[in-house]
Amino acid sequence: MAENENESGHVEEPKNFTPKDPPKLDPPKDDPISVEELAKCDGTDSSYPTYVAIMGTVFDVSGNTAYSPKNPYNVFAGKDASRALAQSSLKAEDCKPEWEDLPDKEKGVLKDWFTFFSKRYNIVGKVQH
Ligand code: HEM
Repeated sequence: MAENENESGHVEEPKNFTPKDPPKLDPPKDDPISVEELAKCDGTDSSYPTYVAIMGTVFDVSGNTAYSPKNPYNVFAGKDASRALAQSSLKAEDCKPEWEDLPDKEKGVLKDWFTFFSKRYNIVGKVQH
């Protein structure tokens, strides 16, 4: 195990989560995206992009096969998966938008994931509830 690897197997990056080769991102959009529309963007239909939402912000993860069907992170696709990200869970039942009631430590993990996604994926809108 590499010395910068943590218990979950994740390689710890510098705390700002900047990727080695930062992609050129588009200006963030705040178009409303319904829960139904988001659900279509779960990677199963190739005529739709693949989206993951965190705290209501929708990221386009289409370019990363990690979120494709059959890959474990597909569980996050097509929904607001805030709670699962905060809790380091891959369970489908944890992939839900509620995070406000979580302890500060998990809120911190969630914020870190938000930063991680912000540096890698275009923001295409906000979930409309
Ligand atoms: C033994 C368990 C695990 C291993 C070995 C593992 C391994 C990895 C590896 C190698 C990466 C790519 C590293 C990078 O791009 O910086 C990654 C990314 C990721 N992991 Fe895990 N992981 C594990 C558990 C989990 C769990 C429990 C979660 C639940 C939150 C999770 C969520 C993610 C997410 C969201 C990414 C980012 C994918 C991306 O957009 O690039 N992982 N993981």
